Amino acid sequence: MESFLIKGGVPLRGTVDISGSKNAALPIMAAALLTDEPCVIRRVPDLSDTRFMVQILKSLGAEVSFESGTVTVQAKKIRGYADYELVRKMRGSICIAGPLLARLRKARISLPGGCIIGARPINLHLKGFEALGAKIKIESGYVDATAKKLTGNSLFLGGRAGPTVLGTANVMMAATLADEVTVIESAACEPEVVDLANFLNAMGAKISGAGSPTITITGVKKLHGAEHEVIPDRIEAATFLIAAAATNGEVVLRGARADHLRAVIDKLGEAGVSVTLRGKNLVARRGGKLRPVDITTLPYAGFPTDVQAQMMALLALTPGISIITERIFESRFMHVSELARLGADIEIEGPSAIVKGGRPLSGAPVMASDLRASAALVIAGLAAKGETQVNRIYHLDRGYERMDEKLRKLGARIQRVEEKA
Ligand code: EPZ
Repeated sequence: MESFLIKGGVPLRGTVDISGSKNAALPIMAAALLTDEPCVIRRVPDLSDTRFMVQILKSLGAEVSFESGTVTVQAKKIRGYADYELVRKMRGSICIAGPLLARLRKARISLPGGCIIGARPINLHLKGFEALGAKIKIESGYVDATAKKLTGNSLFLGGRAGPTVLGTANVMMAATLADEVTVIESAACEPEVVDLANFLNAMGAKISGAGSPTITITGVKKLHGAEHEVIPDRIEAATFLIAAAATNGEVVLRGARADHLRAVIDKLGEAGVSVTLRGKNLVARRGGKLRPVDITTLPYAGFPTDVQAQMMALLALTPGISIITERIFESRFMHVSELARLGADIEIEGPSAIVKGGRPLSGAPVMASDLRASAALVIAGLAAKGETQVNRIYHLDRGYERMDEKLRKLGARIQRVEEKA
């Protein structure tokens, strides 16, 4: 297993290219199952998650190639069954269910199982499929969705924590080939949902309202192949904005979309971090002393839960009390005890973490527990005095393309090494 060895204390300086979005690419790759014609998807980040999706599409019978950021999928003849061994490796694979149900009128998918950041049930996905007329059976760890025909319907898709991103994606994809009209209320408004809707419309679907809480899908008989370039990864961009501030450096982000980052840029501004536009690029640097802030994670366009951990690393360096409340996932504070190993002073009170910031951090071996927690540990290690070893970086490789190379280009002293036994 690999680790990152980081010698901290170097301000990051220079330009970083932001990759395509993992969370947009995954459902868009799955959407290619909706047609037997070739689909070409560009700017797909080279990650273990996107490579898993390629494996899953191949296991369903699709022809797939993935070269230098371009994925080509042709799902001529496919089967509607995805087994546990593949699905358990990546929860995001649940988004093949909607396309399979739409195309084949059946889908047998292993239930994703638990996740370290929360229970993450799929009840809303199944509620959506049932509203379109599918029969759902759960047995031996598998969900079986079958339908003689799919018929459009109006449904409310809000849950305990508000809208569901992949649930909205799945029901939207299932409805593209249903008879009549589907209206999804309390739909997720994330840019990744909009990007998927744009790809589906390029395939001949009739979708309006993506990006708003009400999405309308008028079913069509057949979809055709299409070409699409995935949006930039707003979570990767946010991670680099925060790393620039945490190391008191100045970083230029090439290819990021400022309009997808409003809540993050606004909160960073409150914390004393200046994020400005220079031409088309975003530039981040400290605008003076860092200030404590309170954060509550919310569905888009609120503050993203996928940036909560990285922001906590910055606030651990910031003198004063900051309160971070996690409203989307029940147990997304796994990074707290690891940040404490670097010297941070953070207490958990129910859904909130009370960060008593300002204590200098010092390097130590730490353990990554999930994708965004590992990014927070890398940021803290870059700001800490001495050497930090971040273990189990396979978590990080799931969602960050060549992170160590990109950081080295910004002057960071970071190496990918074999984990010491
Ligand atoms: C997507 O997950 C992202 N993953 C997650 O990013 C992200 O954290 C999440 O959206 C929220 O923004 C991908 O796009 C691949 P949800 P998703 O369904 O769709 C509850 C990362 O770091 N819920 O919007 O699985 C659920 O438990 C990952 O890149 C139900 O109760 O998340 C959660 O509390 C981590 N029933 C809330 O809704 C359901 O049927 C939001 O989950 C579905 C969800």
